[in-house]
Amino acid sequence: MKAKSLEVNTEKIWENLEIRNFEELDSTNNYVKKYLAKNKEKEILVLADRQTKGRGRSGRNFYSKLKHGLYFSLGFSVEDTDPELLSMYTIAAASSMIQAIEKECGLKIKVKWVNDLFYQGKKVAGILAEAITNQKTNKISSLVIGIGINLVGTFDDADSSTQKSAGTLYEVLPEEFEKESLIIEFLRVFHLYHQNIESKSFLPVYEKHLLGIGQEVYYLRRDKKYEGRIEGINEQGQLLVKNKKNNIEILIADEIHFSSEQFVQEIGETNENF
Ligand code: BTN
Repeated sequence: MKAKSLEVNTEKIWENLEIRNFEELDSTNNYVKKYLAKNKEKEILVLADRQTKGRGRSGRNFYSKLKHGLYFSLGFSVEDTDPELLSMYTIAAASSMIQAIEKECGLKIKVKWVNDLFYQGKKVAGILAEAITNQKTNKISSLVIGIGINLVGTFDDADSSTQKSAGTLYEVLPEEFEKESLIIEFLRVFHLYHQNIESKSFLPVYEKHLLGIGQEVYYLRRDKKYEGRIEGINEQGQLLVKNKKNNIEILIADEIHFSSEQFVQEIGETNENF
């Protein structure tokens, strides 16, 4: 598939970032992973209007054929990083995209731990951070941050779970909306976090937008169902849940599945705009 042009000037934000824009790809994350396998030190942003095999966390599909969707992946190398940092990057990316949407679109966004963005009680975006690991050292050498945003459209032919939980940022794309501005703002904020990832300065932003604090929830750990009340996150970005015995459980992103459906709310239960 031939790349089409996109007017995104990232020179001052992310120097030497290669940008490729497509009408359709299987998955922008797949594209970036293949690219980085051949171009180890390079940094790349790949966008697509549609994906035929959009992927979510834990092997799930991500519906990627909306009338207007924004699907992109950012790939870059990191210096021998510990695997634990992958969830920090998910949280940094979520915090950056929350701020970008709030600034560029003026919409109030929430985050369902760990990687789902919600607007008006529905999931409107997902983040899939993947690592390329050096097998010898077991350290991460490159990262791929994939983000899918539902802008406008319906989920008629999506799976039933997506139909119940997914929503869009808009019913009709506003004339003033510009994909480019949203991406640039995301890159600007995310690059700052990336340069100083150890400081975890995004954690307060993330926690401020965390969905469901005080809410009774259920979650699956190795297919077994547990219940508890969300208390917040810790310094590692892990979710703190108070169980029935009043003990705090620490939930680690890779081990837990939280269904989006239990966080879905009707419009009116949340504040829509600023
Ligand atoms: C999730 O909901 O679990 C995460 C969804 C991440 C979707 C994005 S869309 C761009 C990139 N390419 C993919 O195949 N997935 C990510």
